[in-house]
Amino acid sequence: MHLERMAGDTEGLHTVATLYAAVFSGPDGRPDSVVEILGRLRRHMGYPGFRGLVLREGADTIGFAYGYTSLPGQFYRTKLERALRPDQAETWLSDCFELVALGVRAGDRRHGYGRALHDVLLDGVPAKTSVLTTEASNTAARSLYARRGWEILCPDFDPMGHGELFVIMGRRLPLSREKRATAGHGP
Ligand SMILES: CC(C)(COP(=O)(O)OP(=O)(O)OC[C@H]1O[C@@H](n2cnc3c(N)ncnc32)[C@H](O)[C@@H]1OP(=O)(O)O)[C@@H](O)C(=O)NCCC(=O)NCCS
Repeated sequence: MHLERMAGDTEGLHTVATLYAAVFSGPDGRPDSVVEILGRLRRHMGYPGFRGLVLREGADTIGFAYGYTSLPGQFYRTKLERALRPDQAETWLSDCFELVALGVRAGDRRHGYGRALHDVLLDGVPAKTSVLTTEASNTAARSLYARRGWEILCPDFDPMGHGELFVIMGRRLPLSREKRATAGHGP
């Protein structure tokens, strides 16, 4: 079992997109196609601050996690801004890493892999906060995030206007080495 950086090479990324399709449903309840997911992953990899991890065992992809710097004008960021109060948006989005997706293959859950992917992905992220959304009904994810220090910022976020409710969660991040250096605290 090993963790590697999510990279743009087609073969490796295809396995991630396939697992993504197995783990997440699209807005209509059906999974997006692997081709759609691949296109989105490639686009997201070009965003500032992109970080991605893949957990593999031999040739098998067991899990993945990724995110990027949340910036004004991004599609989902705009939805988050509208859902949060202005003071919340200022606090949580002004220097923020968005945790976009975290998934573990169904047969490999409850072995600590989700927690490990979460912790390694966020380790050293040079931002003050992180935000994510997950389905309000997603007990497993909500429990994982609550145990890792995330708080609920909005309990009834309806990003697509379909009545499928999500929660917006936020977590303050420790000051990264990079930020400490910029602030004059040394390495
Ligand atoms: C959420 C998910 C990533 C958790 O992965 P995992 O590898 O099973 O998680 P871990 O084994 O590291 O568990 C960490 C914590 O998550 C919580 N958790 C995980 N599965 C749970 C479940 N079925 N019910 C309740 N809590 C659960 C627990 O708090 C657990 O801590 P504990 O084992 O000390 O009780 C996994 O269930 C998954 O891929 N789900 C589908 C995709 C998804 O919903 N992703 C998150 C939204 S972006």
